[in-house]
Amino acid sequence: MPSRTPRLRAVTKAVIPAAGLGTRFLPATKATPKEMLPIVDKPAIQYVVEEARAANLTDVLMITGRNKRALEDHFDRNYELEETLIRKGDDARLARVRESSELASPHYVRQRDPKGLGHAVLCAEPHVGDQPFAVLLGDDLIDPRDPLLSRMIEVQERFGGSVIALMEVDPAQIHLYGCAAIEATADEDVVRVTGLVEKPEPGEAPSAYAIIGRYVLDPAVFEAIKKTPPGRGGEIQLTDALQELTHRENDGGPVHGVVFTGRRYDTGDRGDYLRAIVRLACERDDLGPDFRAWLRDFTTAELNGSPSDM
Ligand code: G1P
Repeated sequence: MPSRTPRLRAVTKAVIPAAGLGTRFLPATKATPKEMLPIVDKPAIQYVVEEARAANLTDVLMITGRNKRALEDHFDRNYELEETLIRKGDDARLARVRESSELASPHYVRQRDPKGLGHAVLCAEPHVGDQPFAVLLGDDLIDPRDPLLSRMIEVQERFGGSVIALMEVDPAQIHLYGCAAIEATADEDVVRVTGLVEKPEPGEAPSAYAIIGRYVLDPAVFEAIKKTPPGRGGEIQLTDALQELTHRENDGGPVHGVVFTGRRYDTGDRGDYLRAIVRLACERDDLGPDFRAWLRDFTTAELNGSPSDM
């Protein structure tokens, strides 16, 4: 008999897929994982781990591929560098160096074949076990001033099943995302997801609600992924496995969406990556004032058509 009894186990695990080839950023990503590309002066992956920790996710698992040594090194101590900074008495930089290793002590598992996001998430099964868990995609940065994950965990605890993050996008852009068919609930920011399509063809999108890279999933998703045939791009898509869960009242379902209206930066696209850096640099207390003044002059010169050698 269908039951709506939610699983009341706390969400403590974060899974961060980081095995992508980063082809959009070649040649920068030839020998460096794309997750290590800096947003101002911090690698993108560090923002994501900070977000997980801010939502009380204490156990971080990264799904890595080849070339991921740099990721492991970044979250490890670097004694040589620390010693040098201690000798110089450079406490500020020492603190910056230690930040990432004090943040988390991630676990790592390798995705041997790049078979898609669903397959990457499946690699987390032995580590996750039988409790709901979060998935954070590194290409989406969520501004820490607009917390999303803790709200999603709250919604998962209330309804059980699985929860995805949604954002309304320009309909012309929906083909770049997983897209959700939705029904309203009594909460303004929560919807019931009735169907999902990965990167719909023009005219086939059920809405303009795009999946952004945050999920809180019931472990039943693993069985669903195992039964999911390759989909868009010949890859095992997480969206397709979740589509299966949208029909269920338990055993992984129902699927709810939290509609996010805060600040999100897409760092997977080169143009958006540059915009994210400019925005975040402008907001920094140390860099912002000078950088903003330069940016104003630069844009004025651009508008006036005067070539700028600034
Ligand atoms: C992945 C998911 C897609 C989601 C997107 C969010 O796609 O498959 O459903 O909308 O992340 O960033 P990717 O951008 O990795 O191709």
